[in-house]
Amino acid sequence: MQTLSRIIKLTVSGNKTLLISTYIATFISGIALLLQPYLIGLVIDQVVESLNRGESVHVNQILQSTSLIFITGLIRGIAVYCQSYLSEKLAQKLAYTMRNKFYDHVQHMDFKFHDEFHTGNLMSRAITDVEAMRMFVIGAMIRGPYFILLFSVVSIILLYNDLLLGIIAMSFMPVIGIMSSYTRLKLSSIWKIVQEQLAHLSVILQENLTGMKVVKSFNAQQHEVKKFDLESFYISKSMIRATKIQTRNSSALEFLYILSTGLVVVIGAYKIIEGDLTAGQLAQFVFYLGVLAIPVRWIGMLVNNIARTVSAGTRLFDVLDKKSEVQELKSPIILKKPQGEITFKNVTFGYTETKQAIKNISFKIEPGETVAFLGSPGSGKSTIAQLIPRFYEIKEGQIQIDGLDIKSLSLKSLRNNIGIVRQSPTLFPVSISENIAYQDIDSNQSEIEKAAKIAQIHNYIKTLPNAYQTIVNEDGSNLSGGQKQRIMIARTILHNPAILLLDDSTSSVDATTEENIINAMKKVMENRTSIIITHRLNTIKNADRLIIFHEGEIAEEGTHNKLIKSNGLYKEIYNLQMIADEKNKDIIESLQ
Ligand SMILES: Nc1ncnc2c1ncn2[C@@H]1O[C@H](COP(=O)(O)OP(=O)(O)OP(=O)(O)O)[C@@H](O)[C@H]1O
Ligand SMILES: [Mg+2]
Repeated sequence: MQTLSRIIKLTVSGNKTLLISTYIATFISGIALLLQPYLIGLVIDQVVESLNRGESVHVNQILQSTSLIFITGLIRGIAVYCQSYLSEKLAQKLAYTMRNKFYDHVQHMDFKFHDEFHTGNLMSRAITDVEAMRMFVIGAMIRGPYFILLFSVVSIILLYNDLLLGIIAMSFMPVIGIMSSYTRLKLSSIWKIVQEQLAHLSVILQENLTGMKVVKSFNAQQHEVKKFDLESFYISKSMIRATKIQTRNSSALEFLYILSTGLVVVIGAYKIIEGDLTAGQLAQFVFYLGVLAIPVRWIGMLVNNIARTVSAGTRLFDVLDKKSEVQELKSPIILKKPQGEITFKNVTFGYTETKQAIKNISFKIEPGETVAFLGSPGSGKSTIAQLIPRFYEIKEGQIQIDGLDIKSLSLKSLRNNIGIVRQSPTLFPVSISENIAYQDIDSNQSEIEKAAKIAQIHNYIKTLPNAYQTIVNEDGSNLSGGQKQRIMIARTILHNPAILLLDDSTSSVDATTEENIINAMKKVMENRTSIIITHRLNTIKNADRLIIFHEGEIAEEGTHNKLIKSNGLYKEIYNLQMIADEKNKDIIESLQ
């Protein structure tokens, strides 16, 4: 109920006039609908009575009486048009608000949220569940009260017109109502299964299409086709089952309706003969019976509509009510152009409650200093890089920029001053130019090219037929891993942040290109604080200091010379790489 009342409040807020207008149009269309059987009955009686009296009936007379029927028909047509238009407008307004609220909310959530909710899941909430809300406005919210009113008024008219016939007719209604509600609920459980099957099918489809190249490389097409075929078959089966139940129900309803009408006509005819009822009154009765069937048939639909909306609304509000753990202060400090001092004070952090990714980490990086992070996979290097822009919230310890707790800073200003090249490059399916200028859309072409030159990617881009206007494929497949990394570096260079975080950003480029990037970056890194996370020792040649991580803790820190002398973990890593390099040299020499 709480979910429904929230949806209703959201629909009503700011749309009171629209809602009232929709109800007025619906009300007018209802009155016009109710007038028609009454007017038809009058015309019939007029004709029958005249004939009974042995008078002739003039066409003009009939035309006069029937013109009212046409007028009410016209009014009803216009009212129905207005009602459909206005209710759709109202429903679209809610859908628009919900979609945007949802999208906006997701944009501002922390990384923990995105770890928890999968993309496909969020997409289905933003599209399917919002659509369910739209249907709720048109269905239960507008038509619900209308049908209840229509049912009540027609019931009173039927019972008032003729008590016996009214009771006979009404006695069928609970049966029809229960039958259609039962069927709807049964159908709704099938729809739920179909929805799950469809979701599963779309996951198979998405995985297959994004991994099409892998599928082909492993010659797994046959297996994939079988998997899809099976799921697709289940959907058809469920759909056929649903249609069977639906048509069975509508045939039974039709039969019951005809049965009740038949009974009413037989008893009504007897009453006419007895002189207790006129032909016009019987006709009115049969027509009203037809009107009564409309809301009764809709009961099932409304029950289904409400059930679906409650589940969709719960799913949507689940996300909308999720608060990002990363919250700004009410009046945060705007970080203008920081010196770039980074301090970690006893920081402990885990992605889950049970496992800590980094433990009691403390270090200080001076403004303008270049520090390299080294350590085995999973030792917590990327985690630290993600904590500095506050993508995740820490519960223990403090992180400071220029001595200010990052929790006291505005997120926008904090992130604006940090350039991060993440470990897995993500480009958007737009032009290379737009990808480089993603954070700085106002940059001109020469600024973009300058950044690309430093990142050692300009020459390659120039060889492409559309150069900087080349559109990156959806999965970035028209660029190599190293090219993508360099475009990401160019993006960060163009943004010109005070703090630079390079997370394994040259892992996919060859040694010579890496050397060129490092040399070109020297100038870029000169006046800014930089953290270079790497597995390769030649990347850290320019680092002022090294911090070595092991299982979420700092194992050692100092300059290259100091660490070599101390014979610790760094020395071990260094020796291993030297041996590997020597081996490589031997292999290269043996090939020559
Ligand atoms: N989003 C996440 N959710 C849960 N656990 C995570 C997440 N990201 C990282 N971890 C875990 O946290 C620990 C530290 O990971 P992190 O990515 O910081 O390591 P790393 O030093 O950068 O490793 P690599 O050198 O392989 O990049 C690992 O145990 C990892 O499995
Ligand atoms: Mg990493």
